[in-house]
Amino acid sequence: MAILVTGGTGYIGSHTCVELLNSGYEVVVIDNLVNSKMEVVDIIKSITKKDFKFYQGDLLDIDIIEKIFNENHIDAVIHFAGLKAVGESVSIPLRYYHNNITGTLNLCNVMNKHNCKKLVFSSSATVYGVPKSVPIKEDFPLSTTNPYGSTKLMIEDILRDLYVSDNEWSIALLRYFNPIGAHSSGLIGDNPNGIPNNLMPYITQVAIGKLESLGVFGDDYDTHDGTGVRDYIHVVDLSKGHLKAVEKVIKEKGVNAYNLGTGTGYSVLDIVKAFEKSTGVKVNYKIMPRRAGDIAECYADPTKAKEELGWEAVLDIEQMCKDSWDFAKKNFK
Ligand code: NAD
Ligand code: UFG
Repeated sequence: MAILVTGGTGYIGSHTCVELLNSGYEVVVIDNLVNSKMEVVDIIKSITKKDFKFYQGDLLDIDIIEKIFNENHIDAVIHFAGLKAVGESVSIPLRYYHNNITGTLNLCNVMNKHNCKKLVFSSSATVYGVPKSVPIKEDFPLSTTNPYGSTKLMIEDILRDLYVSDNEWSIALLRYFNPIGAHSSGLIGDNPNGIPNNLMPYITQVAIGKLESLGVFGDDYDTHDGTGVRDYIHVVDLSKGHLKAVEKVIKEKGVNAYNLGTGTGYSVLDIVKAFEKSTGVKVNYKIMPRRAGDIAECYADPTKAKEELGWEAVLDIEQMCKDSWDFAKKNFK
């Protein structure tokens, strides 16, 4: 069984390649390396002791997608490739719409042509906009607050329309909550370019001394300690969710959305404390004003993924902190 992984050298894609290879799947990766490094290819091979084909290419180039489908018999696709920085998407929306949407249209057109109609798509909890309540269920109303989120929701709509037009498709829309952590080898993890936007990479860079202190964005939310609450999920658990979703799309036709989260919310200060406890390293922080566009609380009801995919997250917050730190020590010098 061969799986094409778009964006397979990125943070979540690389962990998913490891899980796929360890489970005996044949893997083919396409990535343009806009937000990842070529060395990840060899790292995945060394972790798994398995080989796979890597194409350095862009989903905006339909010829390279065509070439991949001509050269390989692809059974299903896991589609991670996309630009993901919320703030950047506000400054350069056209690039985000073009990259994420045109890339997906190109991919689906080639898949259709080659009669490969099994797709797992990286959506995001951002499609819930400002949720009416928590925990969030898959049938909650969908809306977005920034161009990045809009690309995710538009792609979900495109994929739902695709299924309506042709019931041979099987599509899983995976709505991730907040992935953190890293592979236990400490060799792959989240290594953003420049100053991180997300909480855990910022914390690890403060802990290692690259950044002076964490700015905690707001302590006056209606949460247990006033700081923002999110559903942090270990990237290895998240990756395992993709294997379950691939099994599902291989077996059954349809289009289904699934929350991939733990169901537990932690505040920013809970995460700082958990990090300090599991690593023994102090994290300096100061309270700052709220960040524009942030919501108070966001956490999943993951029941549907448990019932329909047979998946649930098992790794706890201490493990997430410990693995993030091990990766940082090896990689952020
Ligand atoms: P990432 O940036 O580490 O990985 C994405 C990969 O896609 C990168 O390696 C990048 O080089 C590649 N890529 C981007 N555009 C491409 C193109 N046109 N052609 C070929 N390759 C391209 O991001 P990630 O954190 O691993 O996220 C993977 C997916 O999950 C993304 O679609 C992202 O939007 C989504 N997602 C991520 C999070 C998160 O917090 N990390 C949350 C929700 C959803
Ligand atoms: N935070 C800080 N200081 C920082 C960074 C973040 O206090 O330096 C806070 C935020 O205010 C928020 C929490 O930490 O309360 C988490 O923030 P992140 O930026 O790590 O994550 P978000 O929940 O804002 O967004 C992430 C991804 C989005 C995705 C969303 C889905 O960045 O792409 O999760 O749930 F859509």
